[in-house]
Amino acid sequence: MIVSGVAQATALLALALHARGTDAVGVEDPGSPQHGALYAAAGVTAVPLPLDDEGTDLAALRSSGVRAVTTTPAHQFPTGIAYSARRRAELLDWARSVDGFVIEDDYDGDFRYDRAPVGALQGLDPERVAYAGSVSKSLAPGLRLGWLLVPEALAEEVVERKRTSDLGHAVLDQALFARFVERGDYDRQLRRCQRAYRERRDALVAALREHFPGARVSGIAAGLHVIAELPLRYGPQRRFLERVAAAGVDVRALAAYAHARAGREEGEEGTPRLVLGYAQLSPARIRDGVRLMREAAGV
Ligand SMILES: Cc1ncc(COP(=O)(O)O)c(C=O)c1O
Repeated sequence: MIVSGVAQATALLALALHARGTDAVGVEDPGSPQHGALYAAAGVTAVPLPLDDEGTDLAALRSSGVRAVTTTPAHQFPTGIAYSARRRAELLDWARSVDGFVIEDDYDGDFRYDRAPVGALQGLDPERVAYAGSVSKSLAPGLRLGWLLVPEALAEEVVERKRTSDLGHAVLDQALFARFVERGDYDRQLRRCQRAYRERRDALVAALREHFPGARVSGIAAGLHVIAELPLRYGPQRRFLERVAAAGVDVRALAAYAHARAGREEGEEGTPRLVLGYAQLSPARIRDGVRLMREAAGV
């Protein structure tokens, strides 16, 4: 089904699950603030689940009691980890064992720089996984164009929710996009973006190396952002962020994506751990931004 982005896909799934009696869905913590907000709007409680270095923590998932979970397995938002093959299989086993669903938010899965994009989880079990993606990272977020694949068991409910929310997606948008895909233009656009984003990522990683020696940069193999953990001398994080903001560089801490307030406050006094997006900036602007951050840090 064509939808207006991953956001609407999530909202429709939330409404459909709610209609089936699901009142809680697991979400990654740290994770996208969108997830919690969209579930809340549908009357579904988002249950934050911690991550380990393979993906959503399975023990926490099992003990949470939820029967649906939202994940970003290709490139976890915001930590940047790619779910391991083992965790992907375990998630599907879990979904079968509770007669539940995994929601796969593939917001940036087209952009993988070290190897071919990882196959979607949905392909491994279409009856347990709902899959959502969009053109937001490959064309423009303002187009509000995306896609949603749903398990048969949810299909009728989701289609009905789409109908009652907007009577169906704009036909002209769908026709134009279909043409774009059929002519091979979308593939070419993806390849163009791949090259541009890789160049921007390389510029960011090189600038961090130059201006913040000793920084640990992770999550670089895919997506449109990296995580940079700066050495202790640039901290505490709160002061660093204040100085950088005053210099006009818009930067968020990883902790800002924690669901609970305690998590968001955590690390304020520690070393800066930053989420740095690079998609919309030229390499020159990226280099300027990192240099400005270093100057603002005053170290
Ligand atoms: C993790 C994640 N999921 C979903 C979205 C929303 O995507 P869309 O523009 O396709 O609605 C975003 C927004 O950037 C995001 O970061």
